[in-house]
Amino acid sequence: MKYIKLYNGVEMPTLGYGVFLVSPDECERCVSDALEVGYRLIDTAQAYQNEEGVGNAWRKSGLKREDLFLVTKVWISNNGEEKAAKSIDESLRKLQTEYIDLLLIHQAYGDVFGTWRAMEKAYRSGKVRAIGVSNFQAGRFFDFAHYVEVKPMVNQLQCNTLIQQTGIEPIHAEFGTMVMAWGPLGGQGVDGIVKSETLTAIGAKYDKSAAQVALRWLTQRGIVAIPKSSHKERMAQNFDVFDFTLSDYDMAQIAQMNQHDTGTINFGDPLFVKYLIQNYG
Ligand SMILES: NC(=O)c1ccc[n+]([C@@H]2O[C@H](COP(=O)([O-])OP(=O)(O)OC[C@H]3O[C@@H](n4cnc5c(N)ncnc54)[C@H](OP(=O)(O)O)[C@@H]3O)[C@@H](O)[C@H]2O)c1
Repeated sequence: MKYIKLYNGVEMPTLGYGVFLVSPDECERCVSDALEVGYRLIDTAQAYQNEEGVGNAWRKSGLKREDLFLVTKVWISNNGEEKAAKSIDESLRKLQTEYIDLLLIHQAYGDVFGTWRAMEKAYRSGKVRAIGVSNFQAGRFFDFAHYVEVKPMVNQLQCNTLIQQTGIEPIHAEFGTMVMAWGPLGGQGVDGIVKSETLTAIGAKYDKSAAQVALRWLTQRGIVAIPKSSHKERMAQNFDVFDFTLSDYDMAQIAQMNQHDTGTINFGDPLFVKYLIQNYG
């Protein structure tokens, strides 16, 4: 496993396992499988309603807590200083841990500055080792990062070979923020990546699948990938990306695949904002 160093010195695995859309019942089995395969970073969220499954799996794994990297996210309904602080304690309880390795604001709506103050307090008190945001697009990210005291260490964004997030790179660089890629295999639209002719042809040179090339490409860019699969053999395949290196030519070819640099969700669309706030705010 390779690690990335955050600006506060915390080391984070460059490949993890995500549990979005993994039902609470299935989550414990999936995370147990992932830990057996070798994953050490697990990405969950209050909104996924499966933090307990993550907690049960790691407790039963026999792993030492310091060998794991647990990531969770504060949901919109818990925004604001007081509610966020309570929700952090609730996440700690569900994850059965005394500290969270990385805590993110899940979406850029509502009282995110209040939420951040609660996260800064949790960070300073040792309940959390690193803090960051998710789904903050470039302008929103700059506005937020400029005004907060502790700068976000991570921005978790939709990012893959078709959505490369190159435009936001200089803004992140100003604050020392690292990217964690959600949907690294294309999420719901997985075929565009795992069946890509370009990635399949590149993979053939190294005896790797298109999915493995897609994940390797992210880690080689210094981006943390958190693929999800409910199948243990796919978990193993997705984890097996550290024994080959994509050439500069491969990297340049993959750069040509970029179709929607900032992602397929318009986070500024009033209908989308209204939907989230009315349903979860
Ligand atoms: N911050 C956010 O707002 C946000 C949003 C979305 C996701 N996330 C995080 O990012 C994680 C990953 O994103 P994601 O789950 O949306 O998408 P993803 O990991 O890009 O793709 C998951 C899909 O790919 C399939 N798959 C996995 N490995 C495969 C392989 N080797 N070959 C073929 N198909 C494969 C999975 O099917 P099977 O399960 O059937 O194998 C599943 O349908 C999430 O679990 C979550 O932790 C965060």
